[in-house]
Amino acid sequence: MRITPQSIEEVREAAQIAEVASEFTALRRVGARFSGLCPYPDHNEKTPSFSVSPDKSFYYCFGCSRGGDAIKLVMELKSFSFAEAVSHLAERFGVELRFEGRSPEEERAAEKRNARRRSAYKALAAATAYYHKYLLKSPAAEEARGYLKERGFSRSTIEEFRLGYAPPRGRPGFIQAARGVGLGREALEAAGLLSSRGGERFGDRVTFPISDRRGRIVGFGARSLGDAKPKYLNSPETELFNKRSLLYGFPQIAEAMRREKAALVVEGYTDVLMLYQSGIKNAVATLGTAMTEQHLKTLSGHAEKIYLLFDPDTAGEKAVQKVDDTAELTFVAARLSAFLYVVRLPEDPADWLLNHSGDEFVKLLDSAVSIVEYTIRSLAEEARGRDAAIRYRVMPRILEYVQRLIINEPTLEQEARRLAEDALQVSPARLDGLLSSYKASTHGDRQKAEIPTTQNSSRQLVSNSRRNEGREDPLVEAGRELLALVLARPDLASSALRSGIEAPDVFDAPVILTPDDFGDKAEGRIFALLADRAGEDLGTILSDERARVLLDEISAIRADGERLYPSEASLRAAWFRFASLSRERAKLLTEDFDEKYRLHLEIKRLRQAAVEASNLTLES
Ligand code: UTP
Ligand code: MN
Repeated sequence: MRITPQSIEEVREAAQIAEVASEFTALRRVGARFSGLCPYPDHNEKTPSFSVSPDKSFYYCFGCSRGGDAIKLVMELKSFSFAEAVSHLAERFGVELRFEGRSPEEERAAEKRNARRRSAYKALAAATAYYHKYLLKSPAAEEARGYLKERGFSRSTIEEFRLGYAPPRGRPGFIQAARGVGLGREALEAAGLLSSRGGERFGDRVTFPISDRRGRIVGFGARSLGDAKPKYLNSPETELFNKRSLLYGFPQIAEAMRREKAALVVEGYTDVLMLYQSGIKNAVATLGTAMTEQHLKTLSGHAEKIYLLFDPDTAGEKAVQKVDDTAELTFVAARLSAFLYVVRLPEDPADWLLNHSGDEFVKLLDSAVSIVEYTIRSLAEEARGRDAAIRYRVMPRILEYVQRLIINEPTLEQEARRLAEDALQVSPARLDGLLSSYKASTHGDRQKAEIPTTQNSSRQLVSNSRRNEGREDPLVEAGRELLALVLARPDLASSALRSGIEAPDVFDAPVILTPDDFGDKAEGRIFALLADRAGEDLGTILSDERARVLLDEISAIRADGERLYPSEASLRAAWFRFASLSRERAKLLTEDFDEKYRLHLEIKRLRQAAVEASNLTLES
């Protein structure tokens, strides 16, 4: 689909070039034209040689000889593609774009979608203005104002980032105000401004408007003043709001980022604000998720160096997961030729800056290391001083990472080898040896997946250690208990395996389990087998090809299960208990706070369902 030439022409005519240009530089009228300092970041001048002619819809710089129309200016100064620049200007100057190659139905559907989006944008802009004014003016916002002051935010930061406060429940709020300007429920719904009960979603919270990279507000992060959970409530995913591609602060910091050719990525909204206020105007934040490929793409279009700034790390599984995410970013960054650095901070930037200056903060960046170095060193640190089980899991990850770099990013090979030798305390020759036996073992793993673990000594070590760990891991224990019950009474379990178990008091839909929920690979495989063959008797199930390699595990679990009393109620209890533990693990591992909160609610309900089911067990 392409924008029609007529539409492009229309945009050219409608775009007020002086207005577009004055977004980038201050213009002064000189007769029929305007003049100002050249806005191109690489052209620093003291006397104005940039000239804009509204009559001709044209700009020209006598200093650097660049010139063109509004589309070109936007493309070059905002790093937009042609189509992005055209649709940005179309939006801004009210041109309805037409596209080539659409049927009338497609045209109508597109029109409907456009209308919905337009009213959602309008609602979001109106809400931003409403909350902002409410924060600054309303007597009911006294506490919110006090809170922001105490956090150290200045009035100009609050204004520049359009922070706001949504009226607490029970007071007239934005929903009523919106009605007054012709915005109905549908618009508010599409904008993600309503709670699930249909009230004001962000009531009694400080609102942080979140813009897309064109500067349009697409959603909010909203912080509670007190301890209300969750700490931040974000907009739900909507047509306009996609957390994995948005960056908080992007439009405000874009110019500084381009000037400095560098971007900082921090973890919190408040960190962006405090950095900005301290003179560091090129920081953005992800929206409670880990950095994604899309984020990197956006930033690498403007900045050559990208610094990931991590809050002081949480220990354990979470940190391991974080390193895994970071390792993945190495490959994305290499493809985009972005230089990715990592800095581990002593404290959240927002807190740190309460007692330090911006200049001091900049010094912290001296401790930045390349992403390769960060990944390998963090993995090594994970392993140091840990028990054998963790070391076994970590060492192969270092080897795998190095191996993948050697294959995919040969330019990073030397660095990776040197760091791995250092981290593993081995000579170059020994590293080579480890790498080739690692290669062989993974190769073998895939090929000989059907061979029982006892025939492969290195795998056996891993599997034994996992078994030792399992004794302490409640998820693995619960998985075992659940499987024991299913194996004891496949007939009782068949409908659960097919379509989950219902808990009508607490859930609308049945609670479903998948093999990935299990904390142990073998358990997951057994579950997959049982689920595939739900309804069949054990004899038939065990004659399945896949059962062969699992027979040892299955008989061990069955032996364990002999002490259990299988019944419908005990199966339910085990099912919900296991589900809650698997959600616990997911909650621990996810970097996404909204997902965490969703899981938190789900876990609470699952626990309740488990308790109800086991009460029944006691009664029966
Ligand atoms: P933090 O807990 O570090 O928050 O989470 P923060 O920004 O430093 O907040 P303050 O300083 O205590 O006010 C970092 C980011 O994770 C997301 C937000 O994007 C937050 O900025 N987050 C955190 C959520 O989305 N929901 C939460 O409940 C918590
Ligand atoms: Mn923080």
